[in-house]
Amino acid sequence: MPARTYRPSPRNLRLLAAALRRGELVAMPTETVYGLAANALDARACRKIFAAKRRPANDPLIVHVPDLRAAEKLAVFNEAARVLAKKFWPGPLTLVLPKRAVVPGIVTSGQDTVALRSPAHPLARRLLQLAGIPLAAPSANPFGYVSPTTAEHVHAGLGRRIKHILDGGACPVGVESTIVDVSDPHRLRVLRPGAISARQLSDVLRAAGLRATVSQPQRKPQVLAPGLLDQHYSPHTPLSLCTRIASALRHEPGSKTALIFWRKPAGHARKNWHWLSDAGSPEQAARNFYSLLRRTDATGHTRIVAEKAPASAGHLGVAINDRLTRAAGKRRAPGSR
Ligand code: TXA
Ligand code: MG
Repeated sequence: MPARTYRPSPRNLRLLAAALRRGELVAMPTETVYGLAANALDARACRKIFAAKRRPANDPLIVHVPDLRAAEKLAVFNEAARVLAKKFWPGPLTLVLPKRAVVPGIVTSGQDTVALRSPAHPLARRLLQLAGIPLAAPSANPFGYVSPTTAEHVHAGLGRRIKHILDGGACPVGVESTIVDVSDPHRLRVLRPGAISARQLSDVLRAAGLRATVSQPQRKPQVLAPGLLDQHYSPHTPLSLCTRIASALRHEPGSKTALIFWRKPAGHARKNWHWLSDAGSPEQAARNFYSLLRRTDATGHTRIVAEKAPASAGHLGVAINDRLTRAAGKRRAPGSR
């Protein structure tokens, strides 16, 4: 039976919270992307996430909690982690910290650290509150494909593999949370760029009187964060990147190539022209990003050429370019990871 999509009435929210407590999966909106949630303390429930997404077991999950108090029951916090949680939670920041024994090994892929985040989306918060359990939730898409930012996206990818989708409309941020490893409080490492920048993190730590360095994402971060593969977030249509779409490409007649501009190009737009933002707003570009990748993927083009975000787009531009680079990454051979 295909998944049922629920509107967020009080009755439906209670029903979905009860399903989570019973060990079922529920796709829920967060401010970043939709997550596929399960009781994080129930290994059997979490195993269903990996099965539904066809996600390899060595790609750990992010655990969602209502607040810092709930987080401290799952991980060993240090002062730097507390300062960041107090400043940025609820919000798009995931903290990686030493895990406590209650967290099942399947959640962390056997690692001794756990990734935690308190989401800001009111519906995710309501579900957390009603269910009264921490929720493990990776993005609600088949492994490796473009992340979902609407309930329709979830349905398109997982509609035959899950039962419950909570519809909260489009996600307001549009790209996944910033992941920072805080297990060494003096040397923080950003593992995935997102809506909160390394600079913001170090400014807040400094203002709190803490001495810590915050390093930018590594080029090969999958050693630390196994899910961050070279190829990820990928449309089916081959995607290539450029810094500016060349005029030759723009004026190719009858092109089978979909062009994704960073901002609305001047002149009369053609059918295969798309843009992430009207006037170059990084926030708007992030909100549109995954939807547009999906739309261009669904329109029968033989390839997609996307313009990278310019340096002026700041850390959201960095986050978008990270996803674009992975989306364009080398295809894995079938069956390999
Ligand atoms: O915004 C988000 O973070 C969304 C929403 C749903 O909260 N979630 C999300 O989850 O993007 P997912 O599974 O698509 O990405 C989780 C990534 C893993 O692929 C891995 O790279 C990293 O988080 N991760 C999880 N646990 C980790 C750990 N213990 N150490 C290092 N990285 C970890
Ligand atoms: Mg994901």
